[in-house]
This record gives sequence, structure tokens and C-alpha cells, in this order.
Amino acid sequence: MNRSHYCGDLRVEAIGRQVQLCGWVNRRRDHGGVLFIDLRDRSGLVQIVFSPERHPGVLGQAQSLRSEFVIQVVGEVRRRPAETENPKLPTGMVEIFVDTLTILNASQPLPFQLDEDEVGEGNRLLYRFLDLRRPRMQRNLQFRHRVTRAARGFLDEAGFLDIETPMLTRSTPEGARDYLVPSRVNPGQFYALPQSPQLFKQLLMIAGYDRYYQITRCFRDEDLRADRQPEFTQIDVEMSFVDADDVMAMVEGLVGRIFRDALGVAIPSPLPRITYAEAMEKYGRDAPDLRVPLELVDLTGIMKNTGFKVFAQAARQNRGRREERGMVKALRIPGGASLTRKQIDEYTDFVSLFGAKGLAWIKVNGRWQDGEWQSPIVKFFSPEEMASIESATGVATGDILFFGADRAGTVNESLGRLRVKIGKDLGMMADVPFSFTWVTDFPLLDWDSEAKRNVAVHHPFTSPNPEDRPLLEETAEGEEIPPLDRVRSLAYDLVLNGTEIGGGSIRIHDPNLQKRMLALMQIGAEEAEEKFGFLLRALEFGAPPHGGVALGLDRLVAIMLGEESIRDVIAFPKTQKAACSLTRAPSSVDATQLRDLYLKSTFKPKEGGQAE
Ligand code: AMO
Ligand code: AMP
Repeated sequence: MNRSHYCGDLRVEAIGRQVQLCGWVNRRRDHGGVLFIDLRDRSGLVQIVFSPERHPGVLGQAQSLRSEFVIQVVGEVRRRPAETENPKLPTGMVEIFVDTLTILNASQPLPFQLDEDEVGEGNRLLYRFLDLRRPRMQRNLQFRHRVTRAARGFLDEAGFLDIETPMLTRSTPEGARDYLVPSRVNPGQFYALPQSPQLFKQLLMIAGYDRYYQITRCFRDEDLRADRQPEFTQIDVEMSFVDADDVMAMVEGLVGRIFRDALGVAIPSPLPRITYAEAMEKYGRDAPDLRVPLELVDLTGIMKNTGFKVFAQAARQNRGRREERGMVKALRIPGGASLTRKQIDEYTDFVSLFGAKGLAWIKVNGRWQDGEWQSPIVKFFSPEEMASIESATGVATGDILFFGADRAGTVNESLGRLRVKIGKDLGMMADVPFSFTWVTDFPLLDWDSEAKRNVAVHHPFTSPNPEDRPLLEETAEGEEIPPLDRVRSLAYDLVLNGTEIGGGSIRIHDPNLQKRMLALMQIGAEEAEEKFGFLLRALEFGAPPHGGVALGLDRLVAIMLGEESIRDVIAFPKTQKAACSLTRAPSSVDATQLRDLYLKSTFKPKEGGQAE
């Protein structure tokens, strides 16, 4: 089969040429015996013309063409008559007069029109092969290719080796549930699909490969959201003989190249950095959206003895792990005194979605000394407390203050989200399309109060900050291990427009420290050996200092394209219920397959209902 051009590439330079095109019938228009068709391939559209003067036979043949028929045509490129030019189309100055037509395949009538905007996602995923023909998905997937090509170009030039790691492996702890694969030849045993190549990339550093990368699929069985899929892609990188600054500089080069090559946008370097502690204090979240010019103010210290019981109780609750300690915070909205009662009620409903029990507020209509602070709660505050609130928040006439008082986790989550919502609602967002920040100095450990043990915030192979190392040595062997959530790690996340698009750390390369860390997480020697024995052993054979990062490719591409959901930048994504509507995976399997795998399902479908 011959093709001389892609449809979308034809320009005035081709006028007079004979061309051969292949593609799909995008649209047909019958104009008094002359048939016009927009022929489409992945490059775009071009108008082809079947005219009775040129070839009555071919015109007759073309009458049978319908939407999405696949055809090949041979014809002559002509300039369009002046009044029929279409400046909106790159090929809009030309059209092809067809001499021969070959119908390569017919198409059934479509379940939805490809140029329809409002097609439900259910139908889009069910007929993904059609949805993928639409301009938006064509643009998104071609763009995604440009991103990975730019990434590979950069990493190759920087001396990184692309090395594959296994898909059938053991559980890697990244904090989600594993997808398991039963082994037929090892009855009763299971592989896990990798949650990330974490341990293998560390082994590659120990093996001396120095700089590794892989653009690879990761699998996590977790609750899905717009920015989470059960299988997703990481640009995964690891480097030897580096510190955190080296890894961050490499990522800035990589991301800079991706934005330049794929989008033509220059990213500043170095990117801003804030610590985890500062991000939580000012923005309530570890992935802050810095385009919103609003900050939270911690009032816990000045509310300990206030007459407003809700605040005083929260401010005095000082026990438990980080998230559980009490906190009182304010969010100041400049000019917010003009918010209506209805808007305040809506924001109160909004924070309740994140567990807040209320949303106290003060409208600052003038000086508090003159009774101009309008609020259901000011009656509880002493003059000293009013003065402290005023100086801590810096409020001015015309502002509103919102308050949250609860567990730190609830206050930060609810006010942190409210900050972004109000910033968007009131049009306060800085007019920058891409706002990056590093978040550094993440805590190493978190306290799981149910299991009463320390758990890794990033993963168990992340190095503690050497300055905080003494805190890890305080408990002697055999003593009960206290919460160690004050210890900082050498972990960093990259945040873009309020979404975590990447994360990494410097790893532990000292086998004794690694063993100590596992012990502090109450992972006993036996369990450690069973789960990570191979890594612990490898660390004893000359492990270099090393560290790395993984970027979430799907999230990065979605934000670059302005797409809300990563499903729109993945060719064949899963639904919110982790299913593929197209292939109808997951599915039940036949009894022989189960028998071969020594498996038996204990699941009982509900009476009369489908298994869900
Ligand atoms: P982490 O778990 O932070 O780190 O993952 C790295 C990045 O992957 C993206 N991501 C996801 N994207 C879509 N769907 C998901 N379910 C999903 N989960 C994570 C995020 C995230 O920032 N091994 C470490 C990296 C390292 O330490 O080098 C890791 O996997 O954008
Ligand atoms: P109440 O005393 O319950 O009538 O509440 C007075 C004001 O405080 C109302 O505006 C409530 O929304 C608000 N409020 C109640 N509980 C909290 C809380 N935990 N955090 C912040 N504001 C609250």
C-alpha cells in the first residue's frame, strides 16, 4: 500500500502534485452533485473532492462512503477557490481532486459522533478505539510521546542507562496493597507486581551501574481518584555518589528539557524549595499550590486559655502523634468581609467534607476596639486575645478570618483545601500556568497509633537526616520504641500546581543503619530477612551512597495539557472501579485455570446480583 503524504501535512507547496493518501472519512458533504469529504489520519484533516467533471465513475463509487470508512485515494492537489479557503485548518488552502478511490474497509454507524463534546466517559471507555480517534486524545497521546522522547533524550545525554526490572517480583513496600499473581509451578505461592522498581534500582547502584533510568509501569491496589490509577507510569531514576541537591538538580534539568521540547516553555531553575514543616504550617498540605496567595496562621499558642471552649480544648490537646495533636489556625482572606452569609455557609459545608466540625469566622469591618469585628465568636475573646489575633494574622479592615480548631490533621486538611477553593473562587490565583516547588525535609517516620508502631513516611530505605540521627539511637535494644515522628529524612517531593508529581530520597547504604531502621519500625530480624534479606545482604557487599527519584508521568502530562484526569492521557485507563470496560477485565476465569493454580475463590455473588 502506498502513501505519499499524511493528510494534515499538505500545504500550498504541494499544489499541482499527484498524492496518495490513506485515512478515515471524517465528514461528508454533498454539494449539488459534488462530494466533499474531510479525510483524516493522525496528522489531521484534508478536504478531498469527488467531482462529476473529473471522474463520474469515482464519484459514483464515493456515494457509498459513510463516516469512518477507511479509504485510499490518489488525486491532484489544487488551490481552493478563494471564497472556500479555510484559514482555521492548516490544510485549509488546498483540496485534493480524487482520481482513484479504494475502499479499504467499511464502518458501522458510530455510537457517538467523534466531534461531539459531551460524550459520557462510560461510552468513551467502552469504545476507546473510537474515542482515541478524537482530536483531543490524538493530541494528548502524541504529546505524551513527546514528553517521553524528551526525557529519554535528556537522560541518555546525561549518561543514564535504561535498564529493565522484573514485573513478576516480590512485594516492594510503597504503602499500597499489592497486585498478586499466583505461580503455577510453585503451588500456593505468589508473585507481586511491582509498586515501583525501588529495590531493583538500589541493587543496580550496588552493582555499579551508577546512573539508571526506566520509564516503567507500577501497580498499586489503592482507592482510585482523578490522579490515581491502579497501573501508572513512572520516570524512575537512581544515581550513585550523590546528595539530595544533586538529584534535585538532575530533576530540574530533566523537567526543564521536557517542558522546553514538548511545550516550548522555559522553567526557572533552581526551583523554589520549602520544608515539609513550613508547607504544613502555611498551607496545611505537603503538596501546596503556591499560585494561591493565602496563608494559614497558627494560633494554637494564643488560644490555650480563651473563653471559646472549642478553641481552648483544641489548643490544649498536646498528646499523640503529629496529626492527632490539637491545633487552632486562621485563614485570612483580604477583602473577604464582603462574602455573604450564604457563601460562608457553603464554605462551612465544604470544610465539613474534610471532617471539620465548624468554620468560625470574623468579618473585620473596622477596629475591634470600636466593636467592628462582626462574628459569632468574638464575644468569647479578651482584648488581649483580640490584639494577638490581629497581630498574628495581620488583618485589615475589609478582610475576613476563618478558623479551624481540631486535630492538626483535620485543621490542616480542611483549611488547606479551603485556601485553594477560596483562592480559585475569588480569582486570586497568580497568573502562572506552571508553579513548581520542592518540598524537602519530610519526616522519616509516622506513628501508626492503631498498630502502635513507627511506619515509613516515604519508604523504609530512605535515609534519616544525619543531624537527627542521634534521636534514632536513644532507645536501647529491647526497650519499648516511642513515636519517632520528629526525625527528618533526606526525602523530597516535586509539586506542580498543588499536585505531587514526583518524589525521591537519598537511601540508606549502611547495612547496620538499615537494620536499625527496620527494627525501629518493629520489623523483626526474621521478617526483615524474609522480606528484604536480598537487599540487606547486598548492602554488605560494597554499597555506594545513592539516591534517586520517580516522576509520575501520567500526572505530569495531564497537568502540562491542562487535563483534569490522568485517564485522559492514558491510552487504555481503568475506571474508578479499577476495571477496563473495553476488555471487561478483571473477569472470572474457568475452573481449569483455577485448578492449575491451586486456587479456589471464596467469593459468593449476592443473590440475583452481579459480583461487584
Ligand atoms: P512514590 O510512591 O512517591 O515514590 O511515587 C512517585 C510518583 O508516582 C506518582 N504516583 C501515581 N500516579 C498515578 N497513579 C498512582 N496510583 C500513583 N502513585 C504514585 C506520583 C508520585 O509522586 N520508589 C519511590 C520513588 C523513589 O524513592 O525514588 C516511589 O515510588 O506522581
Ligand atoms: P457554636 O458555638 O457551635 O455555635 O459555634 C460558633 C462558631 O464556631 C460557628 O461559626 C461554628 O461554625 C464555629 N465552630 C464550631 N466548631 C468549630 C471548630 N471545631 N473549628 C472551627 N470553627 C468551629
